[in-house]
Amino acid sequence: MNDLEVYVRARYPLLYLVTAEEERALASLKALADGMGKQIVAWSYTEGLGGDAGLRDPVAALEAVRLAETRHIYVFKDLHPFFNNPAVVRKLRDLAQALRSSAKALLLLSPVLNLPPELTKDVTLVDFPPPDDATVVQMIARAGEMAGRPVALDQLQKERLAGAARGLTAGEIANALAKALVLHRGLDEQAIAVMTEEKRQIVRKTGVLEYFDRPEALAAVGGLDELKAWLGKRQHAFGQRARDFGLPEPRGLLLVGVQGCGKSLVAKAVAGLWGLPLLRLDVGRLMSGLVGASEENIRTALRTAEALGPVVLWVDEIEKGFAGHQGGGDSGTAARVLATFLTWLQEKEAPVFVIATANHLDLLPPELARKGRFDEIFFVDLPDPAERRAIWEIHLRKRKRHLPDFDLPALVAASEGMSGAEVEQALIDGLYDAFDQGRPLRDADLLAALGRMVPLSRSLGAEIERLRTWAREKARPASAVRTAQALEPEWSST
Ligand SMILES: Nc1ncnc2c1ncn2[C@@H]1O[C@H](COP(=O)(O)OP(=O)(O)OP(=O)(O)O)[C@@H](O)[C@H]1O
Ligand SMILES: [Mg+2]
Repeated sequence: MNDLEVYVRARYPLLYLVTAEEERALASLKALADGMGKQIVAWSYTEGLGGDAGLRDPVAALEAVRLAETRHIYVFKDLHPFFNNPAVVRKLRDLAQALRSSAKALLLLSPVLNLPPELTKDVTLVDFPPPDDATVVQMIARAGEMAGRPVALDQLQKERLAGAARGLTAGEIANALAKALVLHRGLDEQAIAVMTEEKRQIVRKTGVLEYFDRPEALAAVGGLDELKAWLGKRQHAFGQRARDFGLPEPRGLLLVGVQGCGKSLVAKAVAGLWGLPLLRLDVGRLMSGLVGASEENIRTALRTAEALGPVVLWVDEIEKGFAGHQGGGDSGTAARVLATFLTWLQEKEAPVFVIATANHLDLLPPELARKGRFDEIFFVDLPDPAERRAIWEIHLRKRKRHLPDFDLPALVAASEGMSGAEVEQALIDGLYDAFDQGRPLRDADLLAALGRMVPLSRSLGAEIERLRTWAREKARPASAVRTAQALEPEWSST
């Protein structure tokens, strides 16, 4: 049973269904109503209520609904442009009261979410699910038939095509199928690529989600052994085998820590490790208002991510996006978007693994770090000597250098207090020097580059200490237990 069915059967009086698929939504409402022995009566500004052109005026139509002694489900198509009329808003509030003690229901159907604040308490938002795989398989057969073109797909390929269509609306799927039919004169394997490309476009159109095509290997991450072990253990956690075994779907991780120590890198590596697509949610853009209403956008984005599952949903620098959720300019919107996100995080059942990163405690909404939201909160600290060695090795190898040519213990010692990002930066600086002088890279270049650097940890010592204090209570260390020396980098004595 989908949400819509649940709410209608549970007699929620006032529902708001956001979907661009009016036709399919009406058909599925009709089926639902039939099953309940109810009738659907539609209103639109062009046709009035139940085809009665005398009831085109929304206030009059709503009043007619209030007075009607029926058990109908009234569907108002595109009422949202009238929400700037106080009489319409008031009428809806009156109705919300009246409907509660009746057998009638009112459903607002519209492609956009636009709800006046006065109504948020009375109206229940419902998501209309995209077509399921079986429906898509039917659509594939029908599309070929209607175009009089062959469908050269076996059952497995059909399922793969349906999988590629997951997350698209029926209209979008039909368009992609039509495109594949034109391009390839039939539906064959190549239709899968067409569908995948179509989906990329759609994901991009949300304005706040994007496919991230360059996942990293976990081997590109130095240190952070505890975190890696946690991830490794869950490598097969998204399959049916794990469900059958009684395991819940992993929900997500919050990585909090020092800048440049590999949080974003790990986020990219998780998708690679688990062999899942990586979707990136841009909360800053979401909140900027550049791409339309934030609340509608987050719902669309989360729904899209769910439909595309299993996926890894990466929310980088989550605290910056939600900054201003308390106080500040548009704090109301930020708070509501955050609330939507948190509720979703807590209740989601879809296989969407959220990996969020943050480094500013002051901006991090405390609700995010509360138990039950993420599976685990990991604290990513500056690398200890063993981890720095691993990081040096990774980056030297990445730049095709021969490890035995370098004095690693010296490099590790000289990069005390530095982050992985700073180690990488020093290596690049050293490479420039060697390149400029037309000779191979030497230890001396790297040591000189390190000597010129002022690690962030020196200027941000107090901030890092605060992070560590916070983490002792709230988070689990991403690295294995450290030596006393590593816990006390040089800056803390200055
Ligand atoms: N543990 C590490 N192992 C290997 N490389 C690392 C590590 N940490 C950082 N780096 C290098 O530094 C770059 C920047 O790191 P990353 O963006 O992951 O840091 P971050 O923790 O997300 O920082 P910020 O808090 O500033 O976003 C990485 O792309 C990588 O090249
Ligand atoms: Mg980062």
